[in-house]
Amino acid sequence: MRFSAVFLVPLVIAAVSATSTDPDILDACPGYNATNVTTHGATLTASLVLAGQPCNVYGNDTGTLLLAVTYETKSRIHVKITDPSSDRYEVPESVVPRPKPDPSVNPSQADIRFNYTASPFSFSIYRSSSKEVLFSTASHPIIFEPQYLRVKTNLPDNANIYGLGEHTDSFRLPTSNTTRTFWSRDAYGVPSGSNLYGNHPIYFEHRTTGTHGVFLLNSNGMDVKINDTAGTSLEYNIIGGVLDFYFLAGSTTDPTEVARQYADIVGAPAEVPYWSFGFHQCRFGYQNYIDVANVIMNYSAASIPLETMWTDIDYMYKRRIFTVDPDYFPLDRMREIVDYLHSHDQHFVLMTDPAIAYLPGEGYGPFDRGVQDDIWLKAANGSSYSLGAVWPGVTVFPDWFNEKTQDYWTNEFKLFYDPTNGLDIDGAWIDMNEPSSFCNYPCSDPFAQAQEQDLPPARTTSPPDPNAPILGQTTLHKRVDHSGDDLQNPPYMIDNQAGTGALSDKTAYVDALHANGMVEYDTHNLYGTMMSTATHNAMVARRPGLRTLVITRSTFAGAGTRVGKWLGDNFSDWDHYRNSIAGILGMAGIFQVPMVGADICGYADNTTETLCARWAMLGAFYPFMRDHNADTSISQEFYRWPTVAQAARNVLDIRYRLLDYIYTAFHQAHENGTPVLNPLWYKYPQDPATFPIDLQFFYGDSILVSPVTEENVTSVTAYFPQDVFYDFLTLEPFHGTGANVTLNDVNFTSIPVHIRGGAVLPLREKSAMTTTELRKTDFELVVAPSTQGTASGSLYADDGVSVTPSASTTVEFSYEKGLLTVTGKFGYPLGVSVSRVRFLGVGSAPKTVLVNGVKTKGSAYSWNKDSQVLDVTLNTPFSRGFTVQHS
Ligand SMILES: *[C@@H]1O[C@H](CO)[C@@H](O)[C@H](O)[C@H]1NC(C)=O
Ligand SMILES: *[C@@H]1O[C@H](CO)[C@@H](O)[C@H](O)[C@H]1NC(C)=O
Ligand SMILES: *[C@@H]1O[C@H](CO)[C@@H](O)[C@H](O)[C@H]1NC(C)=O
Ligand SMILES: *[C@@H]1O[C@H](CO)[C@@H](O)[C@H](O)[C@H]1NC(C)=O
Ligand SMILES: *[C@@H]1O[C@H](CO)[C@@H](O)[C@H](O)[C@H]1NC(C)=O
Ligand SMILES: *[C@@H]1O[C@H](CO)[C@@H](O)[C@H](O)[C@H]1NC(C)=O
Ligand SMILES: *[C@@H]1O[C@H](CO)[C@@H](O)[C@H](O)[C@H]1NC(C)=O
Ligand SMILES: *[C@@H]1O[C@H](CO)[C@@H](O)[C@H](O)[C@H]1NC(C)=O
Ligand SMILES: *[C@@H]1O[C@H](CO)[C@@H](O)[C@H](O)[C@H]1NC(C)=O
Repeated sequence: MRFSAVFLVPLVIAAVSATSTDPDILDACPGYNATNVTTHGATLTASLVLAGQPCNVYGNDTGTLLLAVTYETKSRIHVKITDPSSDRYEVPESVVPRPKPDPSVNPSQADIRFNYTASPFSFSIYRSSSKEVLFSTASHPIIFEPQYLRVKTNLPDNANIYGLGEHTDSFRLPTSNTTRTFWSRDAYGVPSGSNLYGNHPIYFEHRTTGTHGVFLLNSNGMDVKINDTAGTSLEYNIIGGVLDFYFLAGSTTDPTEVARQYADIVGAPAEVPYWSFGFHQCRFGYQNYIDVANVIMNYSAASIPLETMWTDIDYMYKRRIFTVDPDYFPLDRMREIVDYLHSHDQHFVLMTDPAIAYLPGEGYGPFDRGVQDDIWLKAANGSSYSLGAVWPGVTVFPDWFNEKTQDYWTNEFKLFYDPTNGLDIDGAWIDMNEPSSFCNYPCSDPFAQAQEQDLPPARTTSPPDPNAPILGQTTLHKRVDHSGDDLQNPPYMIDNQAGTGALSDKTAYVDALHANGMVEYDTHNLYGTMMSTATHNAMVARRPGLRTLVITRSTFAGAGTRVGKWLGDNFSDWDHYRNSIAGILGMAGIFQVPMVGADICGYADNTTETLCARWAMLGAFYPFMRDHNADTSISQEFYRWPTVAQAARNVLDIRYRLLDYIYTAFHQAHENGTPVLNPLWYKYPQDPATFPIDLQFFYGDSILVSPVTEENVTSVTAYFPQDVFYDFLTLEPFHGTGANVTLNDVNFTSIPVHIRGGAVLPLREKSAMTTTELRKTDFELVVAPSTQGTASGSLYADDGVSVTPSASTTVEFSYEKGLLTVTGKFGYPLGVSVSRVRFLGVGSAPKTVLVNGVKTKGSAYSWNKDSQVLDVTLNTPFSRGFTVQHS
C-alpha cells in the first residue's frame, strides 16, 4: 500500500529518461571474434576478442570476454559471457542457487543445440529435431561495456512472447515498440507499460512447432525491447552484471513442459497451508480494533465465509513496525480478536514493512537492536546509514545480505508476534519492499522530506536531529569493482518510471552498501525477494515445522519457493479488473509464484456495486483471494451490498467445493513446477485463436473461467476451442467449435465456469464457513469425459499445515468405456465419504450400474435426460479404492 490521494506528491513529468539509440549505431558496433574455442565434454569455452574499432556507445567496449556454454541437461543450455579481467557483479548464489548440471548429458542428444559463427561472433539456439532456430544474435553484435550490455535476437513476425514481468500489459506481449523495464518500484495504480514491483527476466515463446524459454539471470536494471521494424526482434539493454542465459527447450507438444524446466532453475513453489485458500478480508483504513472486530462479526452475520482477517499499517504506533498503537489498537484487545479468530478456526495476518523508523536514543527496540547488530544498509561512505523516508518518517533499511539480519528479523518476529504475550499471526504480509521510499531524489535531506510529506501522517513532533552521531564503523568487505562507474547516472538510462526516473528516486540509494560489499545498483531488484526469504524463515521459526503464508509485493525470479504475492496497488476500475487476469497468469503460469491475487474490488478509488460483484466472482479464481482497499476509499467488504454478498456466497460455494482440486494442483506445482493456472494456449497449443486470450483462463487444469469483462453488461463473448466442456452448475455438455460464443443472461451474481472434457474432479459435496469445517464434508466425484469418452484426475491430501507431513493420501481417478476406477494410497485419513459420483454427458439411460462390480439397485442412481447427468449414490468411506461402471 502507499499514499492515498491526500498525500499524493504531484507527479513529476520528467524528461524522457530512456536513451533512444538508433539501432543502426548499435548494429554497427564491431562485436567480437571467437578464438581459442575449446570443447570439453558438455562445455564449450572461447575467448571473445573485440573485432574492430570500439564503438564505446555507453562506455568503453571491453576488449576480451570469456564465453562458456554448457549443456546442463537434455533440455537446458547455459550460455555465460563474462569479463575475465574484472570482478563484475553476478546474482549471488545465496539468493538464486544455481541448478546442478546433469553430468551424464550428451550434447549430441540434447533437445536444443548451441551454434555459432566465429567471426564476427554470433550464436544461435536451435531445436535439434527440426533445426528450427529459436534464438539468434546474427547481424546484431554483442556489446559489452562496464555499464551497458546488449544482446539482440531475431524473432518470427508476430511472435507469441509471454513473461518478462512483472507487468500489467497484455499476457501476450505486443511485438511492436515495446519496452519492458526491470527495476523494482512502488508503482501506485500499477500502470501498463511501466516497471512494477517485481522482476522476472524469463520469457516463453510459443510457436505451433513448440514452446521454449529464455531466462536471463541478471538482477541489474534493464530494458528489454521488442520491436517489429526491420524484422521482429527482442533486445536486452542491461546496465550491469554479466550475460547469464539459460535456454530451455520446452516441448514440441506440451507448453507446460517449459514451466517445469524453468522451475528446475529457480525452484518450484512452496506449499501453502490449506487454510490460505480460504477467503481473506483486508483494508487500509480500519480505524481501530472495534472496526476489525465488527468486520469479522458482519461476515459471520452475512453468512459469507471469512477465513482470515488482515490488518494494514493502521495498527502500528506512529506507523512503526513491531508496535501496536496503545490507544487505537491496544494489545489486549487485539489479542482478544486473535483468540476469537483462532477459536473459530479463522486466521489473522498483519502487515510488516522493511523500513524501520530511525529513532536513535528513543528506546525503539527494533531500531536499537538493529544498531547493536549493525545490520542497516550503509551509505556509500560505509560509515553512516542509507536513510529513506517511509511511513514512520526517516527510516533505515535492513541489509538482507548481512549475516546477522536473519537472526535479527527472526527475533523481532518472535518478540512481537509472540503467541503468549504478543500477536499470534498465522501469516505475514510484507509490503514496500522494492524498497519503497517516499523521498524524492536527490534524497539529500530525508528529514526535511519526511516532514514536508507529513510522515508519519498526523504526527506533530519534530523529526530527530539529522546530524545525530551514528553508531559503529563497519569493516567493508571486498566490493564489486565499480571503479569508474557512475552508479547514480549510468550512461544508458533504463526507462524507470519512478518519479524523475533517477535510479535512486523513491527507493534506497543505488550506491548504498551491503555488508558483503555489494551495492544496491546491482542488488536493488533482489531486495523484496530477500526480505521474503527472511520473513519466511522468521515465520517458520515461530512455528517450527508448519507451513506459512507470506504475501509480498516485490519479487525476483525464484521468490515463489518461499512466498506468495499480491499484484500491488491497483484501482477500482474495469481496466484493472481485466488486466489482473494477465497478472495472475504471468505469476502463476510463468514466474512460478502461484499464490497470487489482485486486490479484489480494487485498492484505490471507489468501487461500485457491480464492479465489486463481478470482481468477487473473478477473484474466487485467483489462487490468493483477498478483498483489500485503500484508506480513503469507501468500504467494500462483500456484505456491504446485497448483490455483492450474494455473488460472494455463490462463488465461494464453487471455490470451496473446488478447494481440494486446487490444493492438489499446488502440490503438483510444488513437486515439479506444473502451473496451477493455465492460459488457454497451454491446453490448445495448436489453436492460434487461443494465443492472445487473457480474459479467460483455466483454474488448475480443467476449470475454464470466462468472466464478464464489461461494465453494465450481462453477457460475455468467450472463446471455446474445438472440444467438449460442461457447465459447472448445470453440468450440461457444451460443444466448443473453435469460435467465439456469446454467453447471455450472466446476472450480477453469477460467472460462467466450465469443466474441460477429460477431467475427473474431486469436489467437496458442499461448501462451509471455514476451511476446517470444509475438511469434514464428504466428497463427490464429477466425471467429465473428453470427446474420446475418457477422463482422469487426481487428489492429494495431507494435514494441510506441515512442511513435511507425516502422512499423505494420493488418489488417482481414471475413466474409460463407462468404467471409473479409483485407486490410491490412503496414508492420510480423509475421515469422510464419497457421497456420489456424477457422470456427465451420458446420452442414454443406463441399463446397469455396477459399484465394485456389483449391480446396484435402481434407486441408487438417477439419470437426467436433459442434462445428461447420471448421478450414482455411493456413501462409501473415502479410505480405499473402488470402481463404478455404467453401461
Ligand atoms: C589463446 O590461447 C593462447 C594459448 O594458450 C594464449 O596465448 C592466448 O592469449 C589466448 N587468446 C585469448 C584471446 O585468450
Ligand atoms: C576479426 O575477424 C575479422 C574477420 O576474420 C578480421 O577481419 C578482424 O581483423 C578480426 N579482428 C581481430 C581484432 O582479430
Ligand atoms: C575509454 O577509452 C578512451 C580511449 O581509449 C580513454 O581515453 C578513456 O580513458 C577510457 N575511459 C575509461 C572510463 O576507461
Ligand atoms: C550453424 O551455424 C552455421 C554458421 O553460421 C550455419 O551455416 C548453419 O546453418 C547453422 N546450423 C544450424 C542448424 O542452424
Ligand atoms: C521501434 O522502432 C521504431 C522505428 O525504428 C522506433 O521509433 C521505436 O523507438 C522503437 N521502439 C523501441 C521500444 O525500441
Ligand atoms: C513508441 O512508444 C513510445 C512510448 O510509448 C512512444 O512515445 C512512441 O511514439 C512510440 N513510437 C512509435 C514509432 O510508435
Ligand atoms: C469515494 O467516496 C467517498 C465517500 O463518498 C468520497 O469522499 C471520495 O471523494 C470518493 N473518492 C473518489 C476518488 O472518488
Ligand atoms: C453503467 O451504468 C451506470 C449507472 O447507470 C452509469 O453511470 C455508467 O456510466 C455505466 N457505464 C458504462 C460503461 O456504460
Ligand atoms: C473472439 O473475439 C475477440 C474479441 O472480440 C476477437 O479478438 C477474436 O479475434 C475472436 N476470435 C475468433 C476466433 O473469432
